[in-house]
Amino acid sequence: MLPLSILITMVMLFSRDCITVMALKLCPKCGRIPVPYPLSTGPDCGDPWYKVRCIVGTLWLDAYNGSSYKITSVNPMTKTLIIRPPGLAKNTCMAADFGTQGIQLDEKLPFNITSANTVMIMNCSATVLQEYVALNCSSTSVCHDYIRGNPEAKANCGALPICCWYVTGGTMHTYRIRVRPERCSAYQSFVNLDMNLPVSKWPVPGLEIEWLSPREPECKLPDDCNDLVNSMCLPDLVNAGQRRCLCKRGFQWNSIQDVKCAQGRRCKNEKKKSIVGGKCQPL
Ligand SMILES: *[C@@H]1O[C@H](CO)[C@@H](O)[C@H](O)[C@H]1NC(C)=O
Ligand SMILES: *[C@@H]1O[C@H](CO)[C@@H](O)[C@H](O)[C@H]1NC(C)=O
Ligand SMILES: *[C@@H]1O[C@H](CO)[C@@H](O)[C@H](O)[C@H]1NC(C)=O
Ligand SMILES: *[C@@H]1O[C@H](CO)[C@@H](O)[C@H](O)[C@H]1NC(C)=O
Repeated sequence: MLPLSILITMVMLFSRDCITVMALKLCPKCGRIPVPYPLSTGPDCGDPWYKVRCIVGTLWLDAYNGSSYKITSVNPMTKTLIIRPPGLAKNTCMAADFGTQGIQLDEKLPFNITSANTVMIMNCSATVLQEYVALNCSSTSVCHDYIRGNPEAKANCGALPICCWYVTGGTMHTYRIRVRPERCSAYQSFVNLDMNLPVSKWPVPGLEIEWLSPREPECKLPDDCNDLVNSMCLPDLVNAGQRRCLCKRGFQWNSIQDVKCAQGRRCKNEKKKSIVGGKCQPL
């Protein structure tokens, strides 16, 4: 154990404002939408595992079977993005992405559907009433309000008896919003919906998706880490055989907003927990 006075000195040192250094290659904006690290629009920026596509100023998220969804906003602080659900195929009560069975994210990719979405799911068969207790298919539910209150839904789905709603987030819906002939064939989704509002005041449709916090960038040679100030190319303790630009002692990997090895940030907030054996422990 270190003497208390040394510990206190160290706490003071680590409590100084974080030194902010931009590091790594950030992708340029796509139209008006920022592309924060780790999102990647090309092999030379961001982290390629977090691939999105920028096509003439519009950002897209790819899902299974060739379907893509337009990204309408990106929030680096919460590590979330919002995609626009495709809505209904013309003059039907079927999702425009019915062909790919709705939105299906690749479970091997670092994207997840958050629990902030309220989904109206329409043109359902009676099977869903027994099979999916998590769905609210009450004949007085908000899904019927939605169909009555939204002109397109009313025109296309108004004659169909069963519609249901649910909030995303359970394990079942983490990677997909599925539509199928023998279940439900159409859906619409709203982020942070206040169901007390009349349907005419609901926000534009959206589906919120989060990404996993990125790890430190991979490297092969010491020079690969030059862009990440205060890091060194070292063996990755999690994946044997890989190397990453790990932050030097006294610095912490920080991937929110700025990507950097920040001095002492963790210690500032978690003095007792973090200073063990005289250094800041990685989280
Ligand atoms: C992709 O499409 C094929 C056939 O079109 C289907 O069998 C498969 O289940 C689909 N994959 C996903 C994840 O939807
Ligand atoms: C997706 O969400 C689950 C829990 O809801 C979490 O355990 C998992 O790590 C997440 N995966 C990704 C890739 O975001
Ligand atoms: C179904 O949803 C409505 C709101 O649309 C709510 O008032 C009702 O309590 C819900 N029923 C169940 C069983 O959760
Ligand atoms: C409801 O979905 C089924 C397929 O699942 C489709 O055949 C039918 O045309 C849809 N109803 C309407 C009104 O679009």
